[in-house]
Amino acid sequence: MTEKLDNIKNAALASVAEASTTAQLAAIRVKYLGKSGEISLIMRDMANVPKEERPALGKLVNEAKGEVETALESKFAALEEEEKSARLKAEAIDITLPVTPANGGLHPLTLVRRQLIDIFAGMGFSVAEGPEIESDLYNFQLLNIPKDHPSRDMQDTFYVNDNFVLRTQTSAMQARIMTKTQPPIRVVIPGKVYRSDDDASHSPIFNQFEGLAVDEHITMGDLQGCLTTFAKKIFSEDTKIRLRPSYFPFTEPSVEVDVTCSMCHGKGCRVCKGTGWVEILGAGIVNPAVLEMCGIDSKKYSGFAFGFGIDRIAMIKYGIPNIKLLYENDMRFLAQFN
Ligand code: PHE
Repeated sequence: MTEKLDNIKNAALASVAEASTTAQLAAIRVKYLGKSGEISLIMRDMANVPKEERPALGKLVNEAKGEVETALESKFAALEEEEKSARLKAEAIDITLPVTPANGGLHPLTLVRRQLIDIFAGMGFSVAEGPEIESDLYNFQLLNIPKDHPSRDMQDTFYVNDNFVLRTQTSAMQARIMTKTQPPIRVVIPGKVYRSDDDASHSPIFNQFEGLAVDEHITMGDLQGCLTTFAKKIFSEDTKIRLRPSYFPFTEPSVEVDVTCSMCHGKGCRVCKGTGWVEILGAGIVNPAVLEMCGIDSKKYSGFAFGFGIDRIAMIKYGIPNIKLLYENDMRFLAQFN
């Protein structure tokens, strides 16, 4: 019996020594130390051994078990370490491989908006933003456009319900600001607006840039000076502006403003249709009726306001022929602005 035990133990130790993977070791453990493993089975033969020899044999079996167990454990630790480093090597990422990064860049509308904010911040304007779903009150009524007034036809409105619209103009923010703040006010408002209109120069969603200044003694001269500075900075130093009479319900008098064409510098070309001028914005002196509706004393204060499309400025500045290019996110187009 002792001899049989010795043989089994030696065979077990030999196969542990030969094993080259942790999986093999697991199989060896089952074969010798498992419930019906060879060493465990010897214990069952104990019944055939004379009583007085049983304690001694039991001790030997336990010693053999311990020896095999120890051998298994130390070999397991060694193999596990080896397998781990082999795996690390095999799965390593070569961080020295050169890659071609796709450079991100700012959208042309973002570039122009940031530049506009810079220009007006330089003239003392702060920046405000407002909701795109706007109440009829701010988008129309407080701007002197009552319900059913024909001037609502100037803007093809998306109605959310009877009282809310997708704002058709950032001018809505004029009313919001004037009902909450007393002059002096100097603020610009960039933001998305919506109109049911769709062709090469109109998109149902576009970006406007609103300006509002309310203070004592504000005149059309202040508006003209402010817009001249803006036009020279956004286009070029030789840019001139001209004011033509126009109509908006919330400004009185109202003007439409043209700039000399930045493509041909006033000589006449395809962009300005040969006239040398391009129309870029609507503006005027804030209608005293609007000041009063918003809670500002029109005897003490006056103001000017203007609004234009950021899209249109970008199109003129970069010679972009179709407004849709600004909203399609075609990488071949966008990459040109990096
Ligand atoms: N809100 C007008 C538009 O969208 C532009 C404008 C703004 C005109 C401010 C006058 C004063 O057409």
